[in-house]
Amino acid sequence: MPLPKAELHLHIEGTLEPELAFELAVRNGVALPYEDTEALRAAYRFDGLQSFLDLYYALTAVLRTEQDFADLANAYLARAAAQGVRHAEIFFDPQAHLARGVPMGTVVEGLWRALGRSEENHGVSTRLIMCFLRDESAGSALRTLDEAKPYLHRITGVGLDSAEAGHPPVKFRAVYEAAAALGLRRVAHAGEEGPPAYITEALDVLGVERVDHGLRCMEDPELVARLVRERIPLTLCPLSNVRLRAVDALAGHPLPAMLDAGLLCTVNSDDPAYFGGYAGDNFDAVRRELGLSEERLRELARNSFLASFLEDDEDRRARCLAEVEAYEF
Ligand code: HPA
Ligand code: ZN
Repeated sequence: MPLPKAELHLHIEGTLEPELAFELAVRNGVALPYEDTEALRAAYRFDGLQSFLDLYYALTAVLRTEQDFADLANAYLARAAAQGVRHAEIFFDPQAHLARGVPMGTVVEGLWRALGRSEENHGVSTRLIMCFLRDESAGSALRTLDEAKPYLHRITGVGLDSAEAGHPPVKFRAVYEAAAALGLRRVAHAGEEGPPAYITEALDVLGVERVDHGLRCMEDPELVARLVRERIPLTLCPLSNVRLRAVDALAGHPLPAMLDAGLLCTVNSDDPAYFGGYAGDNFDAVRRELGLSEERLRELARNSFLASFLEDDEDRRARCLAEVEAYEF
């Protein structure tokens, strides 16, 4: 039985496996510029964030109907559950779909067909986090938040993703203020490819409660001290960091140093279809390559539930935490 864990950094569009991509392409009459799943998989070689994002957005072309989004989410939830995920806070990128003429309602209600029954079908509780694309304008983010207003009962929080360099958090001050006023939780990608100053800005200007990646905080000891002091969770994605060249090799990943520094780290899969593994695979990889002890792995699992947005279901959080403590490796 795998270690129980929460997954807090997962882009649902990044769970599109080549087999499902081709199935949906046929279903929707969309032509993919790849001969077959093998040829598509062979394209999964990235030299950084942008080369990955180009393929990631191109493949969203196959997602058109509510059923497509439901099938995508159900496939993820089944795989995640098999790897010990008990709770998943799931990102989606509405602008990637709105731009193709797929309405907000199709995306959210489609995902909800799977998420709304996930606890009974997969044993996985879920939350939905709507991300803004930081390489789009601030005005586009505000319009996207506006379009989401009829669906806010399905959405727990907002996030910020896509190409980081050159798109500082401050660009999204207004939309984060509006999101906070609507009662939405706030997270943002920062310090993946961008500098440590983006992490500070995400905290101070956007009011984020959790930092996605945050890897580059290690370049700034004062920032590390602050993140430790304020107990700001970081959602690390080790296999993603290797595939997108944020680190040279997993064996050199700063996760052990980050845990030693007292940071509240979690381990997540980011875009598992593209980066070589789901949540449990990431845990297995850091155990193997970084030699993490069983107590360190338990700490990571404990952190994942502590850092989750389960304030509206503290019973579930407590049950999951008890499972983590009782787990026998
Ligand atoms: N980083 C930034 N944006 C993203 C990612 C990522 O890893 N995956 C999907 N959008
Ligand atoms: Zn991400």
